[in-house]
Amino acid sequence: MANLMSSIADVIYFDNNATTPLAPEVCHAINTACVNAFANPSSASVIGKAAKKLIIESRSEIAQMINADFTDIIFTSGGTESNNWVVYSAIKYYYSKMSEKVSPNDFKSVPLPHIVTTEVEHDAMIEPIQKLVEEGKAQASFIAVDPKTGSIDLEDVLRVLKEETVLVSVMLSNNETGAIFPVAEIMQRVKAASKEYGNCFCHTDAAQSIGKMKIDVKKLNVDYLTIVGHKFYGPRIGALYVNKPGEKTPLPPLFFGGNQERGFRSGTENTPMIVGLGAAARLVNENLELYRNHMYQMKMLLHDKLVEMFETGSERPCVFFNHPNVTDQSNCLVNTISVAFYDPEWKSFTASAVLNNLSKVVASAGAACHSQQHNDSSAVTTPSRVLISCGVEEHIALRTIRLSVGRQTTAADIEEAVVQLYSAVSMAAQTKI
Ligand SMILES: Cc1ncc(COP(=O)(O)O)c(C=O)c1O
Repeated sequence: MANLMSSIADVIYFDNNATTPLAPEVCHAINTACVNAFANPSSASVIGKAAKKLIIESRSEIAQMINADFTDIIFTSGGTESNNWVVYSAIKYYYSKMSEKVSPNDFKSVPLPHIVTTEVEHDAMIEPIQKLVEEGKAQASFIAVDPKTGSIDLEDVLRVLKEETVLVSVMLSNNETGAIFPVAEIMQRVKAASKEYGNCFCHTDAAQSIGKMKIDVKKLNVDYLTIVGHKFYGPRIGALYVNKPGEKTPLPPLFFGGNQERGFRSGTENTPMIVGLGAAARLVNENLELYRNHMYQMKMLLHDKLVEMFETGSERPCVFFNHPNVTDQSNCLVNTISVAFYDPEWKSFTASAVLNNLSKVVASAGAACHSQQHNDSSAVTTPSRVLISCGVEEHIALRTIRLSVGRQTTAADIEEAVVQLYSAVSMAAQTKI
């Protein structure tokens, strides 16, 4: 076991989109809460009240981070739960509204609720929707990405809206390519267009955006927003922003029991992790610009070094950046590079072969949750569905590695990583599979 454990100091960690290390301040806050705030926050005792106070403080930091009202933040187990809950809420709302309007005899003629989302959402959004479609409980439109921009076209969203559209969900930024989507503009137009039909709720999955860009739920015009702690140096829990839950925006409970979270999510609160999430939010509130600038500087250095190392000399392996505007801060996340390595003769090595040759650099060949399905990463032979949807050709997608820098990345890391990458690519090109 000891051999498997390596600290962040032993590796050059370019997999921050998969998960970030815990910030030391977050670790400290969690440890302290484990010891000092162990009491049940529902207990009327002094120590119970102290735990409750910490939860209140944490909720306030998270609300501040996205310019939300304090009461609009509900703690969840993470992004998967938050996204699934949004889908469930919208569908349940639709069916309960319809049952008020239509007699049971006529219910069969009611159109299925319609969900609009993009082809490149995380599986935690795509899968619950697909499941409902397969079960005949919903219909869905998956909007394709425009390869020229790396984003979706607003008109494509507006074109598919209909009376029974109950949810539009567009991620704020993509976990693989780093593409930033114009969510504020899309949702403003969706809200205006769907006014005549009734309620269509708007959601954005901000898992990859928090801590990398300024987020304001009011400007984004969303009813729901997904928050994931382990993507911004926090613990592995999450939260869901809901615009006036139960009043303006539906949020039917998934769990029933002790009525915690005002009855929306029963279960004794996980105080230490909630405190950790609050500490992570506080760091973002205090230092966002500093973090952004640092990550962008590191990303630019990485980009320039990759170009310098790989593109000078036609005999050498080359790089291809998958995002059309990879260095543009307003269109691509400040920390993400999705890059394919190849040699001019298109020798058949995949990203997995390159990753296997890296001794110190940690990166992934797409979303981490997919790599995990293959115990041996050399077995990855299917290209990422996200890259294919973005118009990336299959042979490029198969050679793509995601490099996501972080707050802890240094210029020395980048110098060393690029040299390692070059030799890993050269080795892979020589061996072939
Ligand atoms: C965009 C996005 N949404 C949702 C999730 C799901 O988060 P979790 O696996 O922590 O539930 C992730 C995690 O990779 C993600 O990148």
